[in-house]
Amino acid sequence: MSEGVVPITMREYSTDRIDLRSDTVTQPTAAMREAISSAPVGDDVLGDDPTVKALEALAANMLGKEAALYVSSGTMANAVAVRTHTNPGDEIVLEKDSHIYTYEGGGYAALSGCSVARVSGPSGIISAADVGAAIRKTEGSQGHYPNATLVCLENTSNRGGGSCYPVEIIDEICEVAKSRGCAVHMDGARLFNASVASGISAARLVENCDTVSICLSKGLGAPVGSVLVGSSDFINQAHRWRKMFGGGMRQAGIIAAAGIFSLENNVERLADDHARARRFGEAVNAMDGYSVDLSAVQTNMVYVTLTAGQDANQAVQGLAEQGVDLFDISPTSLRAVFHLHVTDEDVDAAINAFAQIS
Ligand SMILES: Cc1ncc(COP(=O)(O)O)c(C=O)c1O
Repeated sequence: MSEGVVPITMREYSTDRIDLRSDTVTQPTAAMREAISSAPVGDDVLGDDPTVKALEALAANMLGKEAALYVSSGTMANAVAVRTHTNPGDEIVLEKDSHIYTYEGGGYAALSGCSVARVSGPSGIISAADVGAAIRKTEGSQGHYPNATLVCLENTSNRGGGSCYPVEIIDEICEVAKSRGCAVHMDGARLFNASVASGISAARLVENCDTVSICLSKGLGAPVGSVLVGSSDFINQAHRWRKMFGGGMRQAGIIAAAGIFSLENNVERLADDHARARRFGEAVNAMDGYSVDLSAVQTNMVYVTLTAGQDANQAVQGLAEQGVDLFDISPTSLRAVFHLHVTDEDVDAAINAFAQIS
C-alpha cells in the first residue's frame, strides 16, 4: 500500500441503496480521483503515455510475466487473448459456464472463428483429467476434429460462486494442455480475490499459464480497465488485435492512473469483502427458505438458493423494496457480491432484508 493512504470501505457517493449486484458497481474514491487528476498522460496509441506504461509494467511485475497490454474491459482482454492464441477453425477448451462462453456475446466465434469444448466441474473448478479428455486434435482424426489450441481457465470462477482453483490443479491443467499442444489463458478478472483468499501470490497462481487477464474495475475499484499479460512476443502480437478491435486508446493515462491506484491500495482489503460475504452467507443459510453452499463461499460472492418455492425475480423485487439490490441468477437463485462500498452495517441490513422477505 502507498504510504499515507488509508483504505476506505464506505460509500463516498450519496445513495440509500445497498448495491450487491456486482463488484463492478464501485465508484472511484476521493483518493483515487486525486490520482486520476494528477496523472501525466500522452498518446498511448503512439506509445507516449507514461501512466499507461507504468500500469502495464506494474501488472506484468505483479503477475510475473514479461509484458502487459492495457485494454478497456475484461471482455476485450479475453477477446484479444483468444484471438492472439488461436486461428479460425481452432477449438478452445473451457468450463461450461465460464464468462468467456456465457457472457461475452459469443466473441470467441465471431471475432476468432473458434468452436468451444465445454468441461464441467464442481463449483466451476475443472480437472486436468477432464481437460485432457476434452482436447481434440485434427491430427489422427482424418480431418474430423477441430484443432484445440487453447485452454481457458477462470479464477475465481464467477458462476462457480467465486470459488478458487487450488494452485496444484492449475499446474496440472497447464501440464496437460502443454503436452497436447495447447496454450493456457487465465481469465483472472478476480485473480487477486483468489490470491488473497488462498494466501498464494497472484504470480505463483499463474506461473504456468501463458497469459492472464485481470480486471481493475471489479473488486479493485477502478472505474475502467483490464490488463492482459504474457510474454513480450505475445503482447506484441496482441497489440495488433487490440488495434483491430478498436481498443487503442489515446490519453488513457487518465483511467490507467486509477488502475495503478487500485493495484497499489485495494488488493489486501479484498479480505474484508470475503469476510463480509461469509458472514452474510452463514446468516442467510441459517434462515428458513434459503440455502447457501458455504463451501463455495470462498471469496466475495454468495449464491443463495430459494428453497421454499419462492420466485427469484419476486425475491429481488422484495429485497429492492428493502433497499437491497442484487441479481437473480436463475428462477430459484440469487447472487450477492461484496465490494469496496459494502460496510458492516450494510451486511446487517442485507441480512435483515432477507429475513423480512423469507
Ligand atoms: C470472470 C469474468 N471475466 C471477464 C469479465 C468481463 O469483464 P468486463 O465486464 O470488464 O468486460 C467478467 C465480468 O464480470 C467476469 O466476471
